[in-house]
Amino acid sequence: MENKNKSSFTSSIGFILTAAGSAVGVGNIWRFPYLAAKDGGGLFLLVYLGLVLTFGFTLLTTDIAIGRRTGRNAWHAFESIRPKWGFLGKLTFLVPAIIMTYYAVIGGWVLKYATVYVCGQRAQAAQDGYFLDFITSPVSPIVFLLIFLAITAFVVYSGVEKGIEKFSKVVMPILLLMIVGTAIYSLTLSHTDANGVTRTGLQGLAVYLIPDFTGLTFSKFLNILLDAMGQLFFSLSVSMGIMITYGSYVKKDVNLEKSIAQVEFFDTGVAFLAGMMIIPAIFVFAGTEGMAAGPSLMFQSLPKVFESMGAAGTLVGAAFFVMVLFAALTSCLSILETLVSTCMNIFHSSRKKVSLVISVISAVAAVIVCLGYNVFYFEYTLPNGQTAQILDVLDYVSNNFLMPLIAFLTAVFVGWVIKPQWVTEEMEVQGATFGKKHFYAVMVRWVVPVIMAILFLQSTGLLAKVATLF
Ligand code: PHE
Repeated sequence: MENKNKSSFTSSIGFILTAAGSAVGVGNIWRFPYLAAKDGGGLFLLVYLGLVLTFGFTLLTTDIAIGRRTGRNAWHAFESIRPKWGFLGKLTFLVPAIIMTYYAVIGGWVLKYATVYVCGQRAQAAQDGYFLDFITSPVSPIVFLLIFLAITAFVVYSGVEKGIEKFSKVVMPILLLMIVGTAIYSLTLSHTDANGVTRTGLQGLAVYLIPDFTGLTFSKFLNILLDAMGQLFFSLSVSMGIMITYGSYVKKDVNLEKSIAQVEFFDTGVAFLAGMMIIPAIFVFAGTEGMAAGPSLMFQSLPKVFESMGAAGTLVGAAFFVMVLFAALTSCLSILETLVSTCMNIFHSSRKKVSLVISVISAVAAVIVCLGYNVFYFEYTLPNGQTAQILDVLDYVSNNFLMPLIAFLTAVFVGWVIKPQWVTEEMEVQGATFGKKHFYAVMVRWVVPVIMAILFLQSTGLLAKVATLF
């Protein structure tokens, strides 16, 4: 069933940058900072870092090793190891299929803001209601999403080493430089508000870095843990087949343990720096109250920050949103690439034909998600109490419901059915060393299944129901 069009990475750095390109996206730059700000800065950081080194490491290692050892994408990988477990591959395929529809919508929003700042409309973007007016308008968000999707489709259409690898090799280092630059700039900010209170970027940095344990209860801690875990899945692009597909492109002489550590470092580093550029800036201009803004932080609060910088705000704003656009593009590419390469295998069809068909289907689905803010508007209450429109429902189903379920099943499969050794052998292929072998085995057999089961029950609202029984 080997696919004749199969491409592979030309180098290990190409693999690392492409995997990092998938991992680094709006998850790092938009989602991580607002969660960190909401969940008390330093404390969230501490918890998240702990999770990256334990769960992140385990899940990423599992995905990539399965991909490389089987040489197959997620759809066929599980089935080729144990035919009875083929269902897991199919379940896994659902996640990128769902995420694709709404990621393109967010990509469109980012493209819109990048365009606005490049055209110098800083003041308009900072007005109250600008973001809401934009996403609820009938035509504009659809146009931006279609342009964003067309760019993504073009890269996937032209094949992996020519397209994605080349794109990531150029874009990822530039992105890193821009983030470091903006983060340093953010620390130099200082602003005196109407009450004569002066706040500086360095004070903001302290809020971001120093854990504050006052008023911490067990249930608050559990919430921080859940937020951090959900963020980890989304941010590392694990448990959705993407890293399995990428693993299948990696040559046997690439040292996986080292590459995986580098991908984790890159992804976490960008999230950390994104927090460092956004949180001090929000603190300086809006104080601690401004930090609780939630998901709208990047699209509503940040433009106000750029506005108060005066003329420099146009430049900083443009650099910022162009940077987020790059990150969103490389992530969306990885989602589309997974869908395309899987369907090429299933239907034995060419990359060009499949890319076209899937892009059109994704475009139609994304337009429907977009219309969730006007034509198809509804208010649905999710099990976690959040009011949701189509986009939020899809996000919840994929991240909070499917991903813990898939992580649970995958850990049971590797830990108990094929045994951790199956993965560790692949990690040690061609004499490579796998230092964290025993740690990996304990994680995948015991820790991941237990915690994922709890998380899954929590996300379905079942845990709360069980708790009321006591
Ligand atoms: N990991 C990406 C981010 O942080 C998002 C993503 C999700 C990418 C799912 C691929 C698949 O934004």
